[in-house]
Amino acid sequence: MRAKIIGTGSYLPEKTITNLDLSALMDTSDEWIKSRTGISERHLVSSETETTLSMAVNAGKSALTDSGLLPEDIELIIVATVSSDFITPSTACMVQKELGAVHAAAFDVNAACSGFLFALNTADAYFQAGIYQNALIIGVETLSKIIDWKDRSTCVLFGDGAGAAVLHADPEGIIANLQGSNGEGGHVLMCKNRTNNNPFITTDTCPDYLYMDGQEVFKFAVKKETECIQELLSQAGLVPSDVSWYLLHQANQRIINSIARKLKLPLDKFPSNVGHCGNTSAASIPILLDEIHRSGMLTQGDLILLSGFGAGLTWGAALLRW
Ligand code: COA
Repeated sequence: MRAKIIGTGSYLPEKTITNLDLSALMDTSDEWIKSRTGISERHLVSSETETTLSMAVNAGKSALTDSGLLPEDIELIIVATVSSDFITPSTACMVQKELGAVHAAAFDVNAACSGFLFALNTADAYFQAGIYQNALIIGVETLSKIIDWKDRSTCVLFGDGAGAAVLHADPEGIIANLQGSNGEGGHVLMCKNRTNNNPFITTDTCPDYLYMDGQEVFKFAVKKETECIQELLSQAGLVPSDVSWYLLHQANQRIINSIARKLKLPLDKFPSNVGHCGNTSAASIPILLDEIHRSGMLTQGDLILLSGFGAGLTWGAALLRW
């Protein structure tokens, strides 16, 4: 049995911040941001009640309703995030409590922007092993609390939000998947957890906020995501045009355009929401999946290829039948 997606959900914070809003705060412009990234606006949390947990719960509830399953049917909850509210307990355990998913084992994964794919592939491995039948996976980020709002080269890129999927064991779900990591490249995208106040250690100078070498990340993303897609297609004995929809990590429209060009595919096979969401890291792929599902774009039997990359460095992909 493989993991089949039977319900999706998402949550975006109410507050929308446009490029114009940002240009009132820092030396940037709508033209610079839009021409380099395709981003026009992003949703950001703007109250203490909107948290990583609250967004995850909202997305999870919505996915459960869409699936027709009840919280007590869920046996596994995996939350992908690098911006949990607490170091412990995990966001997944807190989601379990809020949903009343009393039969679920729950844990978080940290694979940055590839996190939702690592969660999906992990759940699929449990299903293949015959351990679970029903799972809830969530990608959620409040990156607004870990980015440096004085660094215009990173803060304009990101947004907050959550996306979720309910998975059921089925002979016709995931067809092929892969994931990988290269810790050697980790220094191009990193964020220290918090300042150490251990009196016996001299505090080092690693930045507390997200640091990124944008051009290195760009090159890595285009190369690795294209390779992942080609590898999955070859595993499945398919050619690029066989896939109905490519849902790529929503980091930058130029990255998506480059990958479409390399695969010689029209851009309309690559739905995108980076324009109004920015980069929501682990949440980007499930938010996009939920948006296109709810807009009626998906037909039963469609072949969907999900692919992402992120800090770590990490990458992951999954080919599945809708
Ligand atoms: N507004 C205006 N100017 C800005 C700016 C902003 N928000 N941010 C940076 N700049 C300036 C830089 O200071 C630099 O100025 P200089 O030439 O005087 O030194 C100039 O713009 C060009 O910067 P550069 O880094 O060369 O731009 P770029 O074309 O590489 O685009 C990114 C920058 C970040 C948009 C691009 O590299 C990118 O998208 N990388 C991938 C990032 C990513 O996907 N991260 C998520 C990983 S999950």
